[in-house]
Amino acid sequence: MAEDQAKTTGPDLAKGIASADLADGGMLVGHVGEDKVLLARQGSEVFAVGAECSHYHGPLAEGLMVGDTVRCPWHHACFSLRTGEAVRAPALGPVACWSTEIREGKIVVLDKVVPRPSTPAAAASGSPQRVVIVGGGAAGFAAAEMLRRMHYQGSIVMVSDDDAPPVDRPNLSKDYLAGSATEDWIPLRAADYYAEQGIDLRLKTGVTGIDTRFREIELGDGSKLAYDRLLLATGSEPVRLPIPGMDLSHVHTLRSLADCRAIIARAATVRCAVVMGASFIGLEVAASLRARGIEVHVVAPDKRPMERVLGPELGELVRQLHEEHGVVFHLEDTASAIDMRQVTLNGGSTIAAGLVVVGVGVRPRLKLAEKAGLAIDRGVTVDAYLESSAPGIFAAGDIARWPDPYSGAAIRVEHWVVAQRQGRTAALNMLGHREKFDAVPFFWSQHYDVPINYVGHAESWDEIAIDGDVAGRDCTLRYKRQGRVLAVASIYRDGESLMAEAAMEREAAQT
Ligand SMILES: Cc1cc2nc3c(=O)[nH]c(=O)nc-3n(C[C@H](O)[C@H](O)[C@H](O)COP(=O)(O)OP(=O)(O)OC[C@H]3O[C@@H](n4cnc5c(N)ncnc54)[C@H](O)[C@@H]3O)c2cc1C
Ligand code: FES
Repeated sequence: MAEDQAKTTGPDLAKGIASADLADGGMLVGHVGEDKVLLARQGSEVFAVGAECSHYHGPLAEGLMVGDTVRCPWHHACFSLRTGEAVRAPALGPVACWSTEIREGKIVVLDKVVPRPSTPAAAASGSPQRVVIVGGGAAGFAAAEMLRRMHYQGSIVMVSDDDAPPVDRPNLSKDYLAGSATEDWIPLRAADYYAEQGIDLRLKTGVTGIDTRFREIELGDGSKLAYDRLLLATGSEPVRLPIPGMDLSHVHTLRSLADCRAIIARAATVRCAVVMGASFIGLEVAASLRARGIEVHVVAPDKRPMERVLGPELGELVRQLHEEHGVVFHLEDTASAIDMRQVTLNGGSTIAAGLVVVGVGVRPRLKLAEKAGLAIDRGVTVDAYLESSAPGIFAAGDIARWPDPYSGAAIRVEHWVVAQRQGRTAALNMLGHREKFDAVPFFWSQHYDVPINYVGHAESWDEIAIDGDVAGRDCTLRYKRQGRVLAVASIYRDGESLMAEAAMEREAAQT
């Protein structure tokens, strides 16, 4: 894609550019051979790394330099400018890195730096021999990957009741469901990765209990598995509606790759679908089904879609956007029954539908943690190090409620990037590092060609300060309480979103 078109973008950095052409704090894109290279300057140091993010090829030159790192404008991944390493999710792999020199008033990019082969670190005394991860999703995968990246030599068992290895879950409601991404986009890693890395991935295996005293978990077949450190990353499950017809074969929820495949198979046979719920996932599903040429009706009790999270202005925009693409809304109404031909609404009307997707929210999968007696407060209560009330048991992702330094509150969110970042922090802390989880929450949602980026966390606010033109899809909205910015949503203002995140981090660090 863009990679191929832009092989020789900008100046030839192997020949060099005038030193004066790259100001302190500046970034520019050039090339070395066919590689597109980002050149960045911090004082007297000049760095050269791959110009495209390893997540979805975001243009790093349009991102933000923070210290010796660069952050991607699209979904806020972060890379070391010194090594190219992916420092923050959602990037899971590094970008290439080159050595540079400044000579005779010129900046020249030299050779590609070959990453040094990993050298196993000696096991620290008291470091765990057996790490067990419950959950093969965002947090579980990120933890396993980080453990090996840290040269952890002990055993890693990842238990998942899903039948697929860890997948790029956000894509299941977006390009993959829309038919514009092929299946090879979906796995987070190739199938042989787990064996290569010595990660014992046990799929289709449910964990039914935890014995905190003997440090064992119980699997669905009654067998036991011992752990020294345990990470709970059981994620969420879709809420089902207590109405007749919910169990019919054409009624779906969307969480797993299997769910997504089932929706795609059904979509190939129908002309009309009903999406219940104007949630992020529900509306992304609506957009993807429209891309497949299906007539889509969205039924939701809200006055405006997503108003509870984004406020009335963005809610109105989201409604307009979907209506422009042919979605028909049935707002301030709910379904009372589903049969094989139609959905009946409480308002009395009926909508013909051969496919129904229920996207009315999710609930965290807390059963295991509750049964094990861990402290629960609408999520698994964890400390700043993501450790639960039971020593040696950590929790990350959708289930974890952690002390968020920016808001000062204990919060739980359902964001891909947060789950991955927490998985990594939990991995470090399972190895004995004492790293606080202090990342500012971030999520994105994509509706047709309009991305919404959101940093921070605002459950309620008393003011939304709008900068720019919401209807024109070029805006930043700041959600404030008593004058303090709690969260920032933006459309096509990636730089502002990154700067807002960095500002919140700085403020949180001072608390
Ligand atoms: C379709 C879709 C689109 C999304 N899009 C976005 C987006 O655009 N942006 C965003 O920020 N977020 C998005 N999200 C949310 C994001 O995917 C989640 O926040 C994230 O996956 C949470 O990660 P997790 O590791 O906590 O849980 P998950 O990724 O759900 O993983 C949980 C794992 O635990 C396993 N498990 C649970 N209980 C057990 C048990 N008892 N025994 C064994 N295994 C168990 C499950 O099978 C699963 O493998 C989306 C979610 C969905 C479903
Ligand atoms: S493309 Fe860079 S973070 Fe997604």
